[in-house]
Amino acid sequence: MAETAQPVTMDTIVSLCRRRGFVFPSSEIYGGLGSTYDYGHYGVLLKNSIRSLWLRAMVQERDDIVALDSAIILNPRVWEASGHIAGFTDPLVDCRTCKLRFRADKLEDSNCGRKPSKRPGETPDCDLTEPRQFNLMFETHVGALQDESSGAYLRPETAQGIFINFKNVAQLARRKPPFGIAQVGKSFRNEITPGNFLFRVREFEQMEMEFFVPPADATQWFEYWLEQRLGWHRSLGLRDSNLRVREHDEAERSHYSTATSDIEYLYPIGWQELEGVANRGEFDLTQHTQHSGTKLEWIDPDGNRYTPHVIEPAVSIERIFVALLCDAYHEEVVGDRERVVLRLHPRVAPVKAAILPLIPRDEGMATRARALYEELRRYHVVEHDDSGQIGRRYRRQDEIGTPWAFTVDEQTLEDETVTVRDRDSLAQERLPIGGVREWLEDALERDWSSPSSD
Ligand code: GAP
Repeated sequence: MAETAQPVTMDTIVSLCRRRGFVFPSSEIYGGLGSTYDYGHYGVLLKNSIRSLWLRAMVQERDDIVALDSAIILNPRVWEASGHIAGFTDPLVDCRTCKLRFRADKLEDSNCGRKPSKRPGETPDCDLTEPRQFNLMFETHVGALQDESSGAYLRPETAQGIFINFKNVAQLARRKPPFGIAQVGKSFRNEITPGNFLFRVREFEQMEMEFFVPPADATQWFEYWLEQRLGWHRSLGLRDSNLRVREHDEAERSHYSTATSDIEYLYPIGWQELEGVANRGEFDLTQHTQHSGTKLEWIDPDGNRYTPHVIEPAVSIERIFVALLCDAYHEEVVGDRERVVLRLHPRVAPVKAAILPLIPRDEGMATRARALYEELRRYHVVEHDDSGQIGRRYRRQDEIGTPWAFTVDEQTLEDETVTVRDRDSLAQERLPIGGVREWLEDALERDWSSPSSD
């Protein structure tokens, strides 16, 4: 096997996603809608894997974190208290000549509308306005009236739904600090410079966890969560050389944060934030206490009252989705044929195994393959494929990252064994057909690391 040395580009990933139906531009028959995407079958399956592995690590395998699913449209006073109405803004400038709008703090990353090789403001024709603050929340109305009294927002983060439920959860789930509340759900931001495929979109699925701790322990828990989250990204199979931690300096930190570090991934567009881990202090619970009049505090068994501090790891499924595909994508030559292979961690892969009858018109092979498929699909997402040459079927599965293919062939009819082909090594071995399910369960539990060079 010879690997082709080209570094993967975002265009390559976009094209694979389109070709294999992972992701396509939304509202395409109407000309699309900027930076909005729809997910096809394999995209949905990959997102499901990411979401369920996050929930497994953050809720299922822990005693100190519970789940929540809060509403997307909240009482607008929530966003006053959180500071989003006043402060969730980007500074923008308009160019009166080309009519484009740019982030004032990102001019060096933008292209002039008339001369794309130049930055906005670099040509004598550019005529930029002074920066103005632009709020990123999408506005809507609740109920029949469309006046100021009915104004509301689509949530720009899931976190506030957690803070306003602190009291409910602490009482009803009988939890005491340190404990966490985890939530997965859609967030919406009217991003002005979206782009780079799914990296910055206007509608995305956040996975956030707010961990409430005694104030004196906040720094220690911040370090703990940073390490845990980095370890989790490694456990998805992302290569170490493509991950790093970057601490925010004071100027970069959000108004609520006393410490923030980004877990960054080396995307084709350079090192960028994959996940943020923030020490939000007591900011949120204090703000909601003041604005709502409901005390969001903890009273310990000795009667001491305190406002817990909050450590927050926050990430979107979209950023992980792109990182996984970039990390996994490989082109290589096998024999005299090129293959595209997604070396995804088997637990992440959209399809866990393919079941292939070597000669589909042979009734013995077809029946056995179908029966194996019926058995395995009860436990995992697996595919049955009986169309085309076997080599082509293997390559179709390689391209969507299916880790194993079970082939029913002539020998199966003699001794009830099948071949299992490994996506990464291409090694083949024979297994009793009756033992395939157990073999697959064991294989999915095994450690895996990318065979690609770091
Ligand atoms: N509650 C804190 C919060 O929302 P953030 O840094 O604005 O903090 C957290 O967002 C995470 O959400 C980011 O690390 C990133 O993974 C993801 N994210 C933010 N904006 C995004 C966008 N426009 N498109 C895709 N993912 C986004």
